[in-house]
Amino acid sequence: MNAPVTNLAGLDLRAEIDRLRKERNAVILAHYYQVPEIQDLADFVGDSLDLSKKAAETDAEVIAFCGVRFMAEVAKILSPQKTVVLPDMAAGCSLEDSCPPEQFAAFRAAHLDHLALTYINCSAAVKAHSDIIVTSSSVEKILAQIPQDQKILFAPDKNMGAYFNRKTGRDMLLWQGACIVHEAFSETELLKLKMQYPDAPIAAHPECPAYILDYADQVGSTRAILEFALTSPADTIIVATEPHIIHQMQKAAPHKTFIGAPGADGNCNCNMCPYMAMNSLEKLYLALRDLNPRIEMDEETRLAAKRPLDKMLEMAAATVGQGDVGRPAMAKAD
Ligand code: 13P
Ligand code: SF4
Repeated sequence: MNAPVTNLAGLDLRAEIDRLRKERNAVILAHYYQVPEIQDLADFVGDSLDLSKKAAETDAEVIAFCGVRFMAEVAKILSPQKTVVLPDMAAGCSLEDSCPPEQFAAFRAAHLDHLALTYINCSAAVKAHSDIIVTSSSVEKILAQIPQDQKILFAPDKNMGAYFNRKTGRDMLLWQGACIVHEAFSETELLKLKMQYPDAPIAAHPECPAYILDYADQVGSTRAILEFALTSPADTIIVATEPHIIHQMQKAAPHKTFIGAPGADGNCNCNMCPYMAMNSLEKLYLALRDLNPRIEMDEETRLAAKRPLDKMLEMAAATVGQGDVGRPAMAKAD
């Protein structure tokens, strides 16, 4: 039994959150990058794809989304009748910031023969200008359903796009965005760590630059990294993604050692996502109490953003092979 976490004038925050969760008929969804105390009281902890699916499926009336704003927006797009709260509305994402909607619309308009494949880490307005949304755990399966000769533009993550270009032999046109967290890993420090632990495999997120991914034994979404860390026969694993995911690894495999890949200064602090860190138990309690901050969106944007998200959910669940998605006009005509 964990000791009570008190604040806001001595409230037992966990007990209060539990009470409000029941009273509000709320579900608490959390990303793996949230602080351990939020992960531990969430109803579900997952990667972006799994969180989107949960948001689409839940029959709760309120979704308290402990992640960043674009993730909570996805929940609202997929479940418009539900109240979606985000503990801190300032919890953005550097990838989203790197892709302003007007510039993306112009980029799209300049490449009308390209299918717009867009990483879910972007605003609803950018989704609305896209053909298909992907997450790190669905991108490869979705790419396999698009004919090899179909021109594709991939936004906003240049590192992820370049990785899948290398892996699949595609030549996707890449928007030049990046995640500040995954770009903070240092190749020099990683090599020093590898010399210290030569038998430790490296698991990395595809948002990392090529100079990190080139050393990775496994590249995948947060869920895939977690699964790799738990199933690998190695007892020490180097984890090149936001280090709060290590909480789930330690819980599931306390006998193993998980080491966060270092940043340039040799310690991991620069690799913690400052946006994910904006959420706290106190803010989650207030969000459930006040049903605020709340995600709101105009219906036109929501419907336009929903179409490429639905496409993602359909293609991520498909058992079909390559060639099932046509050119942009066909992909839009569903
Ligand atoms: P996942 O889809 O792998 O959970 O990644 C989300 C994210 O923001 C990584 O930085
Ligand atoms: Fe965005 Fe990077 Fe934070 Fe993920 S880790 S939410 S991509 S800033």
